[in-house]
Amino acid sequence: MSKKDGTDEFEPFILGIFCNWCTYTGADQAGTSRMQRPANLRIMRVMCSGRVESRFIIEALKRGADGVLIGACHIGDCHYVSGNHKTVRRMPLIKEFVKQYGFNPKRVRLEHISASEGAELTEISKEFVKELKEIGPNPRNKK
Ligand code: FES
Repeated sequence: MSKKDGTDEFEPFILGIFCNWCTYTGADQAGTSRMQRPANLRIMRVMCSGRVESRFIIEALKRGADGVLIGACHIGDCHYVSGNHKTVRRMPLIKEFVKQYGFNPKRVRLEHISASEGAELTEISKEFVKELKEIGPNPRNKK
């Protein structure tokens, strides 16, 4: 995207991997409430955040995503009882894995966002875009 002075501004690409029952529905709610979510976010739906494997994240980063946002139900609300607990437990390992592949672990984020929290999703997305702009583009995308 070009700024007024003609220079290009880095716009991060974020892959959102959202649980069907909470964050994905929250994104839908944000849309129907006409909230303006950053265009940087593209959403992939899974039935539970517990389905998110570390290789999904690595693959997204290897293919040039600047950030990955995992959206999960709040603790105690997972439709499969303990899926989001597993995700929480898996996060330190995912971050370590991401680091091993040479990516900044801050490029991966887990958030608990319910179906009624479209506004929170919008705010978190904006905050993540800002953070990724500070981190800079995915090194895989540098020419
Ligand atoms: Fe949403 Fe498990 S069903 S995190």
